[in-house]
Amino acid sequence: MSTSQPSPAARRPIAFTIIVLGTAAVTVVVLLLLVSIFTRKQEARAPFQRLVEVTEDTVDPAVWGVNWPRQYDSYRRTVDSERTRYGGSDAVPVQKLDVYPWLRTMWAGYAFSLDYREARGHAYMLSDQDHTERVLQRSQPGACLHCHSAVMPAYRFAGNGDVMAGFRAVCNMTWNEARNMVDAHGEALVNHPVTCGDCHDPQSMALRVTRPAFLNGIRALKASEGLTDYDVNRDATRQEMRSYVCAQCHVEYYFAKPGNEVTYPWHNGLRAEQIESYFDEIGFHDWTHGITGAPMLKAQHPEFELWAQGIHARAGVSCSDCHMPYRRVGAMKVSDHHVRSPLLDVAASCQTCHNVREQELLERVHTIQDRTQGLVRRAAAALTEMIESIAAAREAGASEQQLAPLQRLHRQAQWRLDFVFSENSHGFHAPQESARILAESIDYARQAVALAQEVIARPAGTPRDIDRIPLEGVTPTEMAPPGPAIGPVAAADTEDAPRSPG
Ligand code: HEC
Ligand code: HEC
Ligand code: HEC
Ligand code: HEC
Ligand code: HEC
Repeated sequence: MSTSQPSPAARRPIAFTIIVLGTAAVTVVVLLLLVSIFTRKQEARAPFQRLVEVTEDTVDPAVWGVNWPRQYDSYRRTVDSERTRYGGSDAVPVQKLDVYPWLRTMWAGYAFSLDYREARGHAYMLSDQDHTERVLQRSQPGACLHCHSAVMPAYRFAGNGDVMAGFRAVCNMTWNEARNMVDAHGEALVNHPVTCGDCHDPQSMALRVTRPAFLNGIRALKASEGLTDYDVNRDATRQEMRSYVCAQCHVEYYFAKPGNEVTYPWHNGLRAEQIESYFDEIGFHDWTHGITGAPMLKAQHPEFELWAQGIHARAGVSCSDCHMPYRRVGAMKVSDHHVRSPLLDVAASCQTCHNVREQELLERVHTIQDRTQGLVRRAAAALTEMIESIAAAREAGASEQQLAPLQRLHRQAQWRLDFVFSENSHGFHAPQESARILAESIDYARQAVALAQEVIARPAGTPRDIDRIPLEGVTPTEMAPPGPAIGPVAAADTEDAPRSPG
């Protein structure tokens, strides 16, 4: 008999011990599990504990961070510097004027030709405005702070509690005056980049929008769609709010004269040519072009406007779905406040909806961006040639009357190229719409080149009549048999048709 096996009698206490220990272990595990489930349920029910009181005047995000440390920690990470093929951030933001030299020609005579850099994270928005040559070398209004700082307390202070009055007052200040505003105790009023209260009600933490120009802009847009007296904080759905909080700033804007009030030009709609038609109606131009003398428009970051034309907006996908995806922390779903390029975290930003490999998704995005970039290059070449041609026509002594249609084409071509180029997704937010706008830009620029050559070849005063041979095989209208009326084409189609110059 082998001595290596204990006798049955000796085995009994060992088995007993194992059973006791095993039962204890299982009990502990089950208890731990129950405790964990309970606390997670508690966490999920009361997602935060209010350790400090936050109010409308709490601008420092660190104070909010005491109550909501997870969101605050991710907000602070917007100082990151990680690049993607076309986007992301750098420690020293790239000078776009050097990467795309044609920009200096395009913006001749305007502050943007001094300094225009790659955007980076929200943490830098105020300091980057402090340091741009556009502010250092040109005088800018207080209106600039609307989208670059936690500015609401300054508005309330300047308006004695009336936000809209204060907003107008601050817009009308010089940039330095506004930037250095202090309250009754001498405390700085404009001191932080975007803060929690800019998107959240301090009592309920519900999403809200605060920026006056957005409140006015969205009301004008809804009115153009037949919805009067729209109050976004009362009438928008939660999913809409998840885009509107971003559209407070990531939009095309202009400073309405006099008073430099920040205004979003959405009175006729959000599409490039609808915004252009509004500017035409009010006779607006941002500056006079330094080479052609044309009355120009400057497009700036129309992320909201282009996103609105894309398939994701159609499908109800908000800015926050891609740029602030949920992360699971314990039982809680936390919105990532590290707002940045979604390509730096495809798993959280895209794969929640797209059951596609990461590499494949990246390639789809890069294909869209490369194609857009290719069209931008062609549009830029056409634009540069147009500007040179118009300059040559001016030098050849073209009259004001001859120049007017050329300058109009310049305005139209450049508005479109700038609209897509200044949008920061490089085509991704609305690929086909971006391509359509660039195609129109190229068309207008080429029309201008042809017209300028005609003007140069035929100095002012020479008769333009030519003998035209009537086209063969075309039945004159009065001789045509009656049929279905081929009336004016539907408005949507004519809008896209090339306009005759002038
Ligand atoms: C379907 C996902 C998706 C939605 C929805 C979306 N974006 Fe984007 N966004 C992207 C992608 C992808 C890029 C390209 C990033 C890159 O090139 O690194 C981008 C780029 C950007 C950039 C430039 C980022 C950078 O790193 O340079 C900004 C700013 C931006 N989006 C703002 C918005 C705003 C504002 C909205 C809503 C109006 C919005 N996005 C909606 C996916 C999305
Ligand atoms: C409607 C909101 C809004 C207003 C008003 C506004 N900005 Fe911005 N600004 C943005 C957004 C959004 C970005 C990031 C996207 C980009 O860079 O295109 C930005 C980026 C910038 C940058 C960094 C990139 C660059 O262009 O070099 C600077 C500097 C800047 N703005 C200066 C100004 C100045 C100066 C004014 C006033 C003339 C101004 N901003 C007014 C929204 C605004
Ligand atoms: C108060 C105005 C404001 C609001 C609100 C705002 N942004 Fe921005 N955003 C900016 C400015 C200004 C910059 C550029 C900062 C810089 O370059 O210094 C910027 C930069 C960005 C960038 C570029 C980051 C990078 O790494 O290149 C992205 C992406 C972005 N914002 C997306 C969003 C989204 C999504 C929302 C809504 C959840 C939003 N922003 C809300 C003003 C704003
Ligand atoms: C540019 C707008 C913006 C800013 C600034 C912002 N948030 Fe948010 N926050 C959001 C959005 C969008 C959500 C998602 C809300 C939803 O879907 O209902 C969110 C959600 C939250 C939630 C709910 C839980 C969650 O994670 O979804 C908390 C808490 C929160 N934010 C705290 C903060 C704090 C603290 C700050 C300042 C450090 C801050 N937020 C700054 C846009 C913002
Ligand atoms: C909340 C869900 C959701 C998220 C998040 C999302 N998408 Fe989509 N995406 C959709 C839907 C829905 C469509 C439209 C599909 C359809 O109707 O056929 C779509 C369409 C697309 C298309 C086709 C575009 C076109 O013009 O036809 C691409 C490419 C794409 N998504 C890429 C991305 C990338 C990259 C991200 C992350 C940055 C992303 N999506 C995030 C839901 C989402």
